[in-house]
Amino acid sequence: MSTAASDATAVITGIGACLPEHVVDNDTVIARGALRTDDAWIRTRTGIARRHHAEQGTSTGDLAVGAGRAALVSAGDHRPDMLLLATSTPDHPCPATAPAVAHRLGLGTIPAFDLAAVCSGFLYALVTATALVRAGTCSTPLVIGADTYTTIVDPRDRETAPIFGDGAAAVLLRPGGRDAPGAVLATDLGADGSGDDLITVPGGGSRHPRGLPPPGPDSHYFRMQGRTVYAHAVRRMTQSSRTVLGRTGWPPDTVGAFIGHQANQRILDAVAERLGIAPARRFGTIHHTGNTAAASIPLVMADRTVHAAVRPGERALLTAFGGGLTWASVALNWPDAVPRSQAPPADPDTTPLCTDDLSRSHPWTTTTPTSTPAS
Ligand code: UT7
Repeated sequence: MSTAASDATAVITGIGACLPEHVVDNDTVIARGALRTDDAWIRTRTGIARRHHAEQGTSTGDLAVGAGRAALVSAGDHRPDMLLLATSTPDHPCPATAPAVAHRLGLGTIPAFDLAAVCSGFLYALVTATALVRAGTCSTPLVIGADTYTTIVDPRDRETAPIFGDGAAAVLLRPGGRDAPGAVLATDLGADGSGDDLITVPGGGSRHPRGLPPPGPDSHYFRMQGRTVYAHAVRRMTQSSRTVLGRTGWPPDTVGAFIGHQANQRILDAVAERLGIAPARRFGTIHHTGNTAAASIPLVMADRTVHAAVRPGERALLTAFGGGLTWASVALNWPDAVPRSQAPPADPDTTPLCTDDLSRSHPWTTTTPTSTPAS
């Protein structure tokens, strides 16, 4: 679609999700880690009843391939010319996971890179991809948020083990006008590295390399100072959301869909209350996905019940907060793409690169399709 440069932006044209099949309830998490807590505490203090755990051997890249594939099915005929993968649980410390994901999706030699902004990662990647579209650097970026926090969370830590789950979700962008459903209209990004110790995996990086004495016991596990993070999250997501609303000129009561990072229902409610967004306009999946880090916001965008409740073109406000510290907000028109979902590939070495639907709509994929998209 031809669009005047001043009107041009990126438009979401496909949405996909990939959740591991294994669903774990609170009592199972509690029993596994011998946690001193109970189902009622977790539900009332976080809003989480269950989450998906990746099977052993299923990586972030596997989930990203599933989500990317589902987004391409959702988008129909658009071929990605760049891939951005937001994750803080990459398949390896080196290299980035995105090139392998692009390869497994059959996307040839398109540019592909990881972006690490922890739970704000998807919105950071969405903003980056939008800027690249507007600059003409690419036209159809595939933006994936994927994480497997169960690979870094300490199952004995009652402050994190009940909160995190695994998952991936993706959107495909294309250039389009600002009136189009799915158009990204305003953005805000921020970071404050003075809080980099509040959400961290202390060991295993260049500060404390593997092979040298670790900085403390179990330093390869993820740690979060929950209460302090909670306060930062409410403050930053509220401020950032207000910035974006200011840039669009939208009164808060005209927002049709408010989607915040699915960290804690009480945080989400606190932000929405401060903004003045009614409960009926707040959407999430935290009850059954927990906190999936970079996948959290796009998983809500891929949720069919959310799509049933929000009309294409309605005003949507996305906001996230995560380690770094980082935060981000995006205002967009709600997309008209029909979300698709896909099970994780069973085996990274032998799994076909495309689904039936994808091979029909994307002739560049070359392997024999045998799997079908999950509904
Ligand atoms: O994804 C990146 C962003 N992440 C977030 O935004 C997460 C932010 N933090 C949180 O969601 C919450 O802080 C937690 C869910 C981690 C903790 O909930 P909280 O309501 O903030 O609890 P708290 O830290 O204020 O602790 C209250 C009490 C403490 O006991 P004392 O000191 O009052 O005796 C905790 O030790 O609750 C205790 N506690 C628990 N008790 C039972 C903490 N976790 C648990 C638990 N079960 N799982």
